[in-house]
Amino acid sequence: MSKIPLTGTAGPGKTATSAEKGPEFSFQKVSRKFRSGDGEFTALESVDLDIESGSFVCFIGPSGCGKTTLLNMSAGLLAPSEGAVYFRGKRLNGVNTGVGFITQHDNLLPWRTLEKNVGIALEIEKVPRKERRQRVAEVIELVGLKGFAQRYPSQLSGGMQKRASLARGLVYNPSTLLMDEPFGALDAQLRFTMQKELLRIWERDRKTIIFVTHDLDEALLLADKVVVFGTRPGRVVHVEDVPLERPRDLAELRLSPVYGELWERLWKLLDHSSPAKETS
Ligand SMILES: Nc1ncnc2c1ncn2[C@@H]1O[C@H](COP(=O)(O)OP(=O)(O)O)[C@@H](O)[C@H]1O
Ligand SMILES: [Mg+2]
Repeated sequence: MSKIPLTGTAGPGKTATSAEKGPEFSFQKVSRKFRSGDGEFTALESVDLDIESGSFVCFIGPSGCGKTTLLNMSAGLLAPSEGAVYFRGKRLNGVNTGVGFITQHDNLLPWRTLEKNVGIALEIEKVPRKERRQRVAEVIELVGLKGFAQRYPSQLSGGMQKRASLARGLVYNPSTLLMDEPFGALDAQLRFTMQKELLRIWERDRKTIIFVTHDLDEALLLADKVVVFGTRPGRVVHVEDVPLERPRDLAELRLSPVYGELWERLWKLLDHSSPAKETS
């Protein structure tokens, strides 16, 4: 595929000036292959992409096009088969401890209460008990789970478990967040609240956020930049800057001609066929 144009940020090989810190992530010819029953297949092919520090970037694309695979590589949980991932100018070759990762699946520990699941990173960081309890309580309230702190995961609904894993990712306030379809399982009202809250946190702290979604409205509401993935093989097919003014309100955005034009263009780029097979 053709190289995705980069947007004037310094790559790891270049010298960053003080005015230009360089990208938070730089993916350079990143491919990933997996074995399946009948041989090897390419889940992700030759991704060239920079993610600027402090930007909000959405990955969008059909199921099976490698979005989670790229996030796993950003978190250093999976190595590329070819190419390299750079984080703040350094090549990743192990777990990336500089990011908070809110995975697509909850991974809550069943033997820990909600409060203890959410506080796990603070325990590891040896944050004093009083501060830990306070921060955990705040973030539990933020995701709408106040009153459920002593429940175990099996006593929470699917949507509540999703919110719990979101709280766990937010509690230690990482400056870079990787979020894999975090609001997909939430009802419309809560999704709206969480989107607003996430934007508030991002605007306040200027975190770098990579956010995977299936939902084009969600991507255009949140992102500075939308990265469109395609299938067969999984790859980046387009990168679009979103010039819409902030703060954004979805009801107002929908009335804007710029939004309508952007939406239509990206919708056409999205592959609406059935999910890719592993052998694709
Ligand atoms: N660990 C793995 N082993 C084998 N195949 C995998 C593995 N992880 C992902 N895949 C396959 O790679 C492709 C891309 O998966 P994924 O990154 O999860 O897609 P997405 O998040 O876009 O839905 C899929 O066909 C998936 O089945
Ligand atoms: Mg996925």
